[in-house]
Amino acid sequence: MDKFIIRGGNPLVGTVHVSGAKNSALPCMAAAILTEEEVTLENIPQVRDIATERRLLASMGAAVELHEPVTPGDGFSAAPQNHTTISCRSLSDPVARYEIVKTMRASSLVLGALIARTGAARVAMPGGCAIGGRPIDQHIKGLEKMGAVIVQQHGYLEASAPRLRGAHIVFDRITVTGTEDLLMAAVLAEGETLLENCAREPEVVDLAGLLAAMGAKIQGAGTSMIRVQGVARLHGARYRINPDRIEAGTFLIAGAITGGDLIVANCNTEHLGAMIAKLSEAGARIDALGPDSVRVRGAAQLRSADISTEEYPGFPTDMQAQYMALATQAEGVSLVRENIFENRFMHVQELVRMGASIKVDGNTATVRGPARLSSAAVMCSDLRASASLVLAALVADGESVVDRVYHMDRGYERIEEKLRGVGAQIQRMGNVFAPRPEKPINQPA
Ligand code: EPZ
Repeated sequence: MDKFIIRGGNPLVGTVHVSGAKNSALPCMAAAILTEEEVTLENIPQVRDIATERRLLASMGAAVELHEPVTPGDGFSAAPQNHTTISCRSLSDPVARYEIVKTMRASSLVLGALIARTGAARVAMPGGCAIGGRPIDQHIKGLEKMGAVIVQQHGYLEASAPRLRGAHIVFDRITVTGTEDLLMAAVLAEGETLLENCAREPEVVDLAGLLAAMGAKIQGAGTSMIRVQGVARLHGARYRINPDRIEAGTFLIAGAITGGDLIVANCNTEHLGAMIAKLSEAGARIDALGPDSVRVRGAAQLRSADISTEEYPGFPTDMQAQYMALATQAEGVSLVRENIFENRFMHVQELVRMGASIKVDGNTATVRGPARLSSAAVMCSDLRASASLVLAALVADGESVVDRVYHMDRGYERIEEKLRGVGAQIQRMGNVFAPRPEKPINQPA
């Protein structure tokens, strides 16, 4: 199990390049199911969740090819231009097996597309995960309203529908992948579908952009009301995925927390509004250098500022853990309120072990700063908590060991190369301790 060894204290200086958005790539790869023709996606981040999605599509009979560029990236310059081609000409086995789904709950994103394309789907129910129960009742309710018959048995959703029909669906609560799942179901449904109370995240807009390039008729993506005219079939397309706004935000915090002077390039500044506003309120100096790059400089002393996570365009829940690391260095008391997930404070105890002063009461964490962080051996629990611990280790005195970084590898491409490229002292280590020989089972432990 890989670990990061990080020696804190270096201000991050230079230019770091953002990769494509994992949470755009996942629904866009699933959208390839909707056509027999080839779909080519550019700027796909090479992270674990994408590899899982490739395995999932291949397990159903799709041909998925990753075309790496000839010149491998040096880790410091812009990400090499790769592209992925996906051909779902024949989906010999439209089943999303539990062995794969249990490693990535976003696998459930194939549900709507499989029903729309093949009239049937067998998808393992995604379990909960570290940050919450994460039900998919809204996905199921919407698909049933479009005529799908869905039975839950043996841990699987068995779905069938000769042809989905357009419907008027109002989400009981805003859901990103719920909006994406039903959007993919609606584009091939008979008639018009009206989706209300939709997620407005840029990743939804990215998916709608690909679907439109494939011939879908969609209005309103990025607003809370999306109207879809079903079409008989979709054709192949080539599409470039948007930059990852959460990776960009994570680097903005890295520049601010280390008191550095960092240019975050290859991003889309339009998607960073809430994060830039909050970091400016906390005292960081932030200058947009154009539509795709932002400069962040640390402050002599960061100031406390409260956050409350909201759906887009509010402050993203996927930035809450990273912001909390910053708040430990800010003068005063910062309230961090998590409104989206019920258990997204797993990073708190690890930050406390590094010397942070944080108290949790329900969905609110009270952070008192500035706290002098000391290096420690800490453990990642989920994707964004990992980023929080790395950020804290970048300012802690001494050498920290951040364990189980496979969580971070799910959504951050070449993260240690990118950080090293702007001055961080970070190394990836394989499991340094050889596994102990198994004791014969009949011996006392
Ligand atoms: C997406 O998850 C993202 N994942 C998450 O990013 C992100 O944290 C989340 O949206 C919120 O922005 C992908 O896009 C692959 P939701 P998703 O459905 O769609 C409840 C990361 O770090 N809900 O918007 O699963 C749910 O429990 C990941 O990259 C229902 O009750 O999140 C949650 O409390 C983590 N019923 C809230 O809605 C449903 O049917 C928002 O969840 C669906 C959701």
